[in-house]
Amino acid sequence: MNLRRTLKRIHLQSPQPHALATFYASAYGMHCKESDGVWSCTQTDREVWISTGQAGKLHYALFVFSAPADWGAFLQNTQGLPKVNLQRFSELPASAVGFLDPDGNCMVFGLESSFNLKTQPARSLSTEITLPPASSQHFALRTMQTDAMMHFYTDALGFLLSDKVHDESGQLKACFVRGNEMHHVVALFGAPVNCFDHQSFETPTWNALKDWADHMGQQRIEIVWGVGRHGPGNDVFFMVRDPDGNLAEISSEIEICTDQRPAGQWKHEERTLNLWGKAIMRS
Ligand SMILES: [Fe+2]
Repeated sequence: MNLRRTLKRIHLQSPQPHALATFYASAYGMHCKESDGVWSCTQTDREVWISTGQAGKLHYALFVFSAPADWGAFLQNTQGLPKVNLQRFSELPASAVGFLDPDGNCMVFGLESSFNLKTQPARSLSTEITLPPASSQHFALRTMQTDAMMHFYTDALGFLLSDKVHDESGQLKACFVRGNEMHHVVALFGAPVNCFDHQSFETPTWNALKDWADHMGQQRIEIVWGVGRHGPGNDVFFMVRDPDGNLAEISSEIEICTDQRPAGQWKHEERTLNLWGKAIMRS
């Protein structure tokens, strides 16, 4: 059963939070505010938060349920899992729950109606740039233990498996799991390191993706991968890098899945990650 949850927020760590906030303000047209050392960069349907810490480290990812019945079922299904103490994240409501994946990444879940931003900003960066819509949609992690991570996200957290990528020896190299009808909300890539890989904002149309690319050009932000089309998910995309080197993606046309869609299998090759050409291989 697909208990529907969507990605609301990525909270990154960074040794240079102000530089990242400045980037997300200009590249993604977000309103960035600092309060007690934490930057919140927000725009309609997309959020990136930044705290001081290690580059390439996810502070937490936040998923929200809009249906109270799905939220209740999720709490029931996860009641036996060890929970993270979320008190240090003062921006989260008391009803939120968090779990550490096998790599130590914190996944937070809550009921959508319980999130209200009330903090008063100490500093703010604003942009008046008009851009096409783009919503927080998915993120990806690199991991040295793809099997354990896949089982945690599917068996423990209840995400549905959309696609798997195996190498010739049968080793799992990547997988894509969904939390609603969109093909993936989390992607896991086998790699020699455990770290954050990228986040993606979904824009409604091809034309909107082109406008985003023009915007990056106007801002002199280099497109480092794409335009291409991913195999798993079938989404068109391009990627840029933030000042810490994290990839940040704009994508469109992601596959819409039924709950009954069987998990697909892909070969570990460049074409899987980009049907149109070159790929960033993580291993
Ligand atoms: Fe992506």
